[in-house]
Amino acid sequence: MGYRVVVVGATGNVGREMLNILAERQFPVDELAALASRRSLGTEVSFGDTTHTTKDLDTFDFTGWDMALFAVGSDATKVYAPKAAAAGCVVIDNSSLYRYDPDIPLIVPECNPEAIHDYKNKNIIANPNCSTAQMVVALKPLHDRARIKRVVVSTYQSVSGAGKEGMDELWDQTKAIYNPTTEVEPKKFQKQIAFNVIPQIDIFMEDGSTKEEWKMVVETKKIVDPSIKVTATCVRVPVFVGHSEAVNIEFEEFLDEDEARDILREAPGIMVIDKREPGGYVSPIECAGDFATFISRIRQDSTVENGINLWCVSDNLRKGAALNAVQIAELLGREVLKKG
Ligand SMILES: NC(=O)c1ccc[n+]([C@@H]2O[C@H](COP(=O)([O-])OP(=O)(O)OC[C@H]3O[C@@H](n4cnc5c(N)ncnc54)[C@H](OP(=O)(O)O)[C@@H]3O)[C@@H](O)[C@H]2O)c1
Repeated sequence: MGYRVVVVGATGNVGREMLNILAERQFPVDELAALASRRSLGTEVSFGDTTHTTKDLDTFDFTGWDMALFAVGSDATKVYAPKAAAAGCVVIDNSSLYRYDPDIPLIVPECNPEAIHDYKNKNIIANPNCSTAQMVVALKPLHDRARIKRVVVSTYQSVSGAGKEGMDELWDQTKAIYNPTTEVEPKKFQKQIAFNVIPQIDIFMEDGSTKEEWKMVVETKKIVDPSIKVTATCVRVPVFVGHSEAVNIEFEEFLDEDEARDILREAPGIMVIDKREPGGYVSPIECAGDFATFISRIRQDSTVENGINLWCVSDNLRKGAALNAVQIAELLGREVLKKG
């Protein structure tokens, strides 16, 4: 006996990946409902060898469904997630709406699986921001060994992190550069993204940081340890899929780069590719479609007392969103619902 699973936002970047990953990992699905807005009513989406016709979220009854993986924006989540939760269907949400609610667990299964039991507070579990998810998978095992004091991170985030419209904008602007008769004005991004980089993701906060940067700070504290200080600069780059991060970590105790490499090699969810030769590291193109978070360029930072630098790359639609949500669904199944 398996689960009755709903994928909400099944026509989007993350929703489609959720369907792929549920099938790839052979999640025990007895029945599947693929939902989107009325706009795409009747659109067909693939789930393994089968296709499903999307239904309208607005009229869907969640009663009797075990779990709903939500991948719509915060506005739609605010309306429909409480309905699903009240109907007894556990919500695993990808938006930022519930991440900072102290009653709602924010889970990366490699880091804080024990938080799963708090799902019952509101029948909702939150999935972190894409740039946080891949970073904390690397931070947690290092923190367990040498206690992290401070993290300085710069991100290089792909356009798919801004949904399917973000991918279209990069594609259309790139084509327009080779065909100057058409001009594609920035809509999803604040400036031209083709052949450019943009040091702004999400809105500005009062202190001059952006909300994406703030999310990395607050979410790292909630998932790994409130004592860790994080400062982030988040940058959008003209890459379709795969976020990269240059991470500088300062520890309480000395951690040798070789030991850090060994710890990361053993850590769940991580693949270390770290050869000190041209091309001996992972770039976003190579991580797209993969489950792992890839770590390269591990090296001592001798400018602080106990410092390590590393390069962290992962498929933002997978570990940053859909994979993490499916891993939470697996955890919920294993620890709580116990079907399948
Ligand atoms: N992309 C990432 O790397 C990433 C990472 C972490 C979290 N997230 C979060 O995941 C969510 C989805 O992101 P995405 O990148 O998949 O966006 P997307 O590609 O733009 O897809 C949005 C999905 O939401 C549906 N939708 C929007 N408004 C709706 C409504 N009122 N009722 C029903 N369905 C509605 C859309 O359906 P239609 O096709 O019918 O419009 C579509 O299926 C967002 O909250 C995002 O912040 C994304």
